[in-house]
Amino acid sequence: MGVVKRLYFISAILINLSILVIGAQPRKPVDVPFQKNYVASWAADHIKYINGGTTVDLVLDRTSGTGFQSKGSYLFGHFSMRMKLVGGDSAGVVTAFYLSSQTNEHDEIDFEFLGNRTGQPYILQTNVFTGGKGNREQRIYLWFDPSKEFHTYAVLWNTYHIAFFVDNVPIRIFKNSKDLGLKFPFYQPMKLYSSLWNADDWATRGGLEKTNWANAPFVASYTSFHIDGCQVSTQQEAQVCSTSGLRWWDQKAFQDLDPQQYSSLQWVRQKYTIYNYCTDKTRYPNVPIECARNKDV
Ligand SMILES: *[C@@H]1O[C@H](CO)[C@@H](O)[C@H](O)[C@H]1NC(C)=O
Repeated sequence: MGVVKRLYFISAILINLSILVIGAQPRKPVDVPFQKNYVASWAADHIKYINGGTTVDLVLDRTSGTGFQSKGSYLFGHFSMRMKLVGGDSAGVVTAFYLSSQTNEHDEIDFEFLGNRTGQPYILQTNVFTGGKGNREQRIYLWFDPSKEFHTYAVLWNTYHIAFFVDNVPIRIFKNSKDLGLKFPFYQPMKLYSSLWNADDWATRGGLEKTNWANAPFVASYTSFHIDGCQVSTQQEAQVCSTSGLRWWDQKAFQDLDPQQYSSLQWVRQKYTIYNYCTDKTRYPNVPIECARNKDV
């Protein structure tokens, strides 16, 4: 065995060992400042850098919201963000954290947090677009107040599935259903995006609750800007990333949720789900094809 090959072999063993030791927990992010992986994408003057960018605040006022995006594009990986949402009277305000390919027939994986009047619960809406097709909304309440402290919101994306996590609790799974004729994001690298904006035309109680500008500016805080993905900047790299293999998120433990994770998911569905496109008979008289496999029905 050559040196390189041997190193490769040893690291493969180490990866497997670490999975045995920590179970199906994703690799812990190493905190890096915002500037390492992200850049403002609009209204840069509405982003405030604290502690050299260890934490950033997004500010929404009457003049503008704001947003940022990753510098790199990624094909598969584990993407997480620690966020503390706008507190108090946040009705009408939406905070999003998502991945998108921004192409014609785009792929997208969304977390959207819909604010509410003081003391009323936030809604977390998730969605998955594949090949330009979305309309797969699910909405849950959270089991904590997301404006009080930082919580971790993460997506694990490999060739087997896309799993959404809130503080390591799975809240949604979207399995690769290519064999059922459904598109799955395999080929288009995605960037990460986040934004804070006024959406009082639809967000809170369907747009009935308007943003109270007397409470502006609205501030959402972010921290932990590590990105654990397969970065793509050339066609060749895209090929390498889509060959599933040694990366930790391709390993057996991450190819499906384990029984304990499925029971957590069940707990979320029973106690916190308020909308699931899979059970919306008016909208979808025929249950969408992926729903059974995703255990959404
Ligand atoms: C806001 O609070 C109301 C009343 O509790 C609730 O019906 C609604 O789902 C909450 N969230 C949003 C985003 O409308």
